[in-house]
Amino acid sequence: MALLTKATYTPKKWSYTSLQGISERTVGMHFGLYEGYVKNTNLLNEQLSELIASSGSKGSDPKFAELQRRLGFEYSGMRLHEYYFDNLTPNGTGKAGSKLSAAISASFGEFEKWKSEFFAIGGMRGVGWAILYQDPTNGWLTNAWVTLHQEDALVGFNPVLVMDVWEHAFLLDYKPSERGKYIEAFYANIDWNAVEARLK
Ligand SMILES: [Fe+2]
Repeated sequence: MALLTKATYTPKKWSYTSLQGISERTVGMHFGLYEGYVKNTNLLNEQLSELIASSGSKGSDPKFAELQRRLGFEYSGMRLHEYYFDNLTPNGTGKAGSKLSAAISASFGEFEKWKSEFFAIGGMRGVGWAILYQDPTNGWLTNAWVTLHQEDALVGFNPVLVMDVWEHAFLLDYKPSERGKYIEAFYANIDWNAVEARLK
């Protein structure tokens, strides 16, 4: 905690205002939501810092405990949105580069198997994230689901491709039952160069 209180996070900015199949209204609203996570992360750090300075760290103090618990939600909400917006571009080609394709095929057998699994995870009921991760201990890639922003996250794995499947990511453009259409739109807008650059 001590280190976090020294950090003030500044919201990142992206050059695009809309994407293929994801409107300017959605993108603008989503950037605003992301900035809320940055603001709340900073605020939580400040509140925790003040509380610790005034009454120390007490696990039995409900205020201390609640602020600590909320940190994972706000901080991971901030970071996951950065991965998400960083791996999108209005100039998507719909085609992964050769290095990434080879890594995906090595881990999943075939590229298409990875893609259908990733889409299936994105279509799971509930709000959260579909993530293609790399395990730093062996380099293998795996798909996984994260509930909200922080639950079920695979600790220590590096996100390679991050897809937001909270309803706010698509509800202005698609019906709740049309999440599949949003996932197709997301896929069309992937910045494969940015994704490949995350591979270690
Ligand atoms: Fe989001």
